[in-house]
Amino acid sequence: SSHMGADLERVLVSETEIETRLGELAEEIAKEYEGKDLLLVGVLKGAVMVMADLMRALPMTAPVDWMAVSSYGSGTKSSGVVRILKDLDADISGKHVLIVEDIVDSGLTLSWIKANLESRNPASVEICTLLRKPDAAKVEVDVKWVGFDIPNEFVVGYGLDYAEQYRGLRQVGTLAPHVYS
Ligand code: PRP
Ligand code: MN
Ligand code: MG
Repeated sequence: SSHMGADLERVLVSETEIETRLGELAEEIAKEYEGKDLLLVGVLKGAVMVMADLMRALPMTAPVDWMAVSSYGSGTKSSGVVRILKDLDADISGKHVLIVEDIVDSGLTLSWIKANLESRNPASVEICTLLRKPDAAKVEVDVKWVGFDIPNEFVVGYGLDYAEQYRGLRQVGTLAPHVYS
C-alpha cells in the first residue's frame, strides 16, 4: 500500500489518454452549453478526479454541486434502489444539468440519478462519464459523452476504488491477484 501503482496488473487507460480525451470532451461540452445556464453535478466519491480535470479543461466557468448515493445494502445493488446520502445543495429548476461520473457499470446508479434529477424541473439533464462497460449494462442509460468503453473487468484508479483504496491512481487499470488474497 506504500506504492499503489505496483498493485496494478494492467493499465487500461493511461494518464495521457485520460487527459487527451477529457480535453476533447470539454470542447464538445463547451460548444453544447455555450450561453446556457450549466450546472455540473458530480457523484461522490468516484467522480472527484474526472470532475476536477473536466472542469479545468472547460473554457468557461460553471458551478459545481455534488450528490452522494448508496444502494440499500450490497445484496440489493442490482435492484437499482438508491438512497441519497447527500443531496444537491441547491435547486436545479431551469438549469442545464450535466452529471459527471467516473463509470457506468450496470447503469443502475446513473439511471436512478438521472430520473431523480429530471423530476426536479431542470432545463435538461445529460451525462458525461469517463468510462463505460457496455457488456455490464443491466439498464439502458442515455449517456451523451463517454470517454472510453472498457471490457467488463474490475478496474480501479482515477477515482475508482477497491474497498475505498486506489482512488488516487492517475491511470485506470486492473488489480494484480495478490491484492485480493
Ligand atoms: C461506483 C461508480 C459509479 C457506480 C457505477 O460507485 O463510481 O458511481 O458505482 O455502478 P453502476 O453503473 O453498476 O450503478 P460506488 O457505488 O462504488 O461508490 P463510490 O463512487 O463512492 O466508489
Ligand atoms: Mn460512484
Ligand atoms: Mg466504489
